[in-house]
Amino acid sequence: MQLDVVTLFPDWFEWFRGQRHIANALRGGHELRTLNPRDHTTLSGGQVDDTPFGGGAGMVLRVDVMDAALRAFYNADPVDLRRERRVIALTPGGRVLDDAFVDELAAEPAVTLLCGRYEGFDERIVQHFCSDTLSIGRYVLAGGELAAMVVADAVLRKLPGSLGHADSAVEESFSAALGGNPEYPHYTRPAEYRGWGVPEVLLSGHHEEIRNWRRARSDERGASSGGTPLP
Ligand code: ADE
Repeated sequence: MQLDVVTLFPDWFEWFRGQRHIANALRGGHELRTLNPRDHTTLSGGQVDDTPFGGGAGMVLRVDVMDAALRAFYNADPVDLRRERRVIALTPGGRVLDDAFVDELAAEPAVTLLCGRYEGFDERIVQHFCSDTLSIGRYVLAGGELAAMVVADAVLRKLPGSLGHADSAVEESFSAALGGNPEYPHYTRPAEYRGWGVPEVLLSGHHEEIRNWRRARSDERGASSGGTPLP
């Protein structure tokens, strides 16, 4: 997959690229590129944003600057780009990211993520250049960069070769293998710690019973929507 991030802060992604499962994915032939709109503005002082028409706080990313940046990078009119690849505006009000959305993106050959800053994008960027909007949750971040990393992490780890074990991404929380439910609890050594034991069935070696127990715990977690109940 070719994953491009349009960001005013490309440096943030240097650290991210070095993290093991991301580095594995990149070594495996996937790409994570960044594009800085500031490198493509013709406005004085590297200006990329402006005050909102109608007044109000904050600054808005300009449509002409985004147009120039995308046009230079892809050598195409950005209006046509969304027919060739998913072009996604990261915004708190967008389509909320879940496992199904991640799977959808992991199946794409090419995705571009647009990071907003300040008050976000001129709406014409979203309307004319984007195929989707995406929110990582109903709260507001200072910009889209952390959201882009969340998307990149969730998507790249689904691709073959990024996780150590081929099955790790199959039977995991919210996957079809678990009927869309959260994952079952895990335990490891020591089998006894401060008097806290481990469910007997997991030590039994009965694969069928273990599978049933896990599925039942996963179903239980799915039924309690507020997360795992704690004592
Ligand atoms: N940009 C700012 N907040 C965001 C959020 N919650 N999701 C995606 N992009 C954002």
